[in-house]
This record gives sequence, C-alpha cells and structure tokens, in this order.
Amino acid sequence: MILKIENLYKAFGNKNVLTGVNIEIPEKSICSVVGQSGTGKSVLLKCIMGMIPADSGAVWFKDVELTRLNRKELIEIRKHFGYAFQNAALFDSMTVGENLEFPLREVLQVKNRAIIKKKVAEILDWIELPGIEHMHPSDLSGGMRKRVGVARALMLQPEVLFFDEPTTGLDPVLSETIMNLVLRVNKELGVTCILITHDIPAAFRISDQIAFLHQGTIVADGKPEEVARSDHDIVRAFLRISFNELQV
Ligand SMILES: Nc1ncnc2c1ncn2[C@@H]1O[C@H](COP(=O)(O)OP(=O)(O)OP(=O)(O)O)[C@@H](O)[C@H]1O
Ligand SMILES: [Mg+2]
Repeated sequence: MILKIENLYKAFGNKNVLTGVNIEIPEKSICSVVGQSGTGKSVLLKCIMGMIPADSGAVWFKDVELTRLNRKELIEIRKHFGYAFQNAALFDSMTVGENLEFPLREVLQVKNRAIIKKKVAEILDWIELPGIEHMHPSDLSGGMRKRVGVARALMLQPEVLFFDEPTTGLDPVLSETIMNLVLRVNKELGVTCILITHDIPAAFRISDQIAFLHQGTIVADGKPEEVARSDHDIVRAFLRISFNELQV
C-alpha cells in the first residue's frame, strides 16, 4: 500500500466532519473518493496531505506515519505528493512557461536554464499543448488551464497526485479530456492518483477503487463493480441518480 488511512477523525468546533475514516490505497492505482456535497471529501484530502492536522488517527505513506511528523519532516515528504485543485491556481502574472518552471526552480533548486526549458517543453508536449510557453493563464480556455495545472503538479514527478474536482465547471467533452489525462498520468507515468469527483460515471470508468464517504465514514469501498453492488441505502440512491442522469 502506498497510502493507508486509519481511523481518521476531524472536527471543526462541535462539527464532526470525519468520524473514523479507513482507506488503503495500493501503489500505482486510481482511487476516487465520492459522496454528497459537504460530507468531508476535501477535508479528508487535506488531512491526508497534511495541509490540515487530523484530530486523531493515522495516515501512512509507505512505512512513514505522516501524522507523527513535525512540520519540517512533513514538508520534505510532501515533495512526493502533487495536487491539482479545482481552479488550477496558476499564477496569472506569469506565463505558462514560468508557471511550469516555478516548482523546478523553487522546490528542486534546478538552475540550468537549458534543462528547465527542455523539461517545460516536454511536459507541454505530453499534455498535448506544445509551444504555449509564452501564453498567459488568462488567455487559456478552462480546459487548457486545468491541463497546465496538472502539468505543473507533474513537474516534481510526484508519486501520488491528488485531484479535487478536476472537472467541475467543464463541459462534458473537456471533462472527458481531463479524466483521460488522469488515466494517462496513472498508466503512462505510474503515478498513484487520488481523485475527488462528482462525475460518477467517469469515476467508475477510470478508477481501480471507489471510496464512498458518508457522514464522516467510508460506507462503501472497493472496485467500481463492488461498490455498484453495495446494499447501503445512500450509496444505492446516489449511484442510481448519478447514472440515470446520464441517460436523460
Ligand atoms: N476550515 C474549516 N473550518 C470550519 N469548517 C470547515 C472547514 N473546512 C471544511 N469545513 C466544513 O467541513 C464540512 C465538509 O467540507 P468539505 O469541503 O470537505 O465537503 P466536500 O465533501 O468536499 O463537499 P463538496 O462536494 O461540496 O466539495 C463542511 O460542513 C464544511 O463547512
Ligand atoms: Mg470538496
């Protein structure tokens, strides 16, 4: 297992958000966390990445317990993680090229200009947007921005890449493009992908594992076909609505 989440609890004031979450994620797999709005999916992701501290429970990355690390150790280990969040969070004042160079220069301390230029060109080729180094994020379409956001996360060659709703706000064709990009990141680069999405049919298509979060715990977890057969009422209702909407 590359990640193991054990009995994770998180409350904000008297609001219990996570109440004992358990998930095991195998190396080089795609796991989608699904569930109703406001149920704690984003909080779970942030707790796993150590962006917010959990109240109790453990997060393991291979044989390292992240929940026991101090700040400095956590920053070091997080270099193995990448994340692509909803609004891509590119720096608008910088060009696409500068956005992609940033992690190389600032995190990996790469100084060689030729190496940096080559790596940027390679990643833009790989996301099928060659030669857009000189464009500004504000001149890109929503789908292009998302792909550049993923490219930037890939610059550090993460072992695990987290996506929080990468397709929200995109039309169905672009959503498919982004989901296929997640699939390529996983299959071609061997990166473990943890995904939060409301696009249930896409999640079922690309994921090795689906974890259904409801009222603070994982109520169904397994291969897509296993979760599709869950006898949990909420899971059944949620999946029925999600798949029926597709046929309208
Ligand atoms: N920093 C915070 N302080 C207080 N409450 C918070 C904080 N972050 C999240 N919450 C609360 O935790 C609950 C879960 O939020 P979260 O964003 O994880 O939901 P979600 O499942 O990601 O929803 P969505 O599908 O709409 O993105 C919500 O009630 C939210 O208001
Ligand atoms: Mg969320």
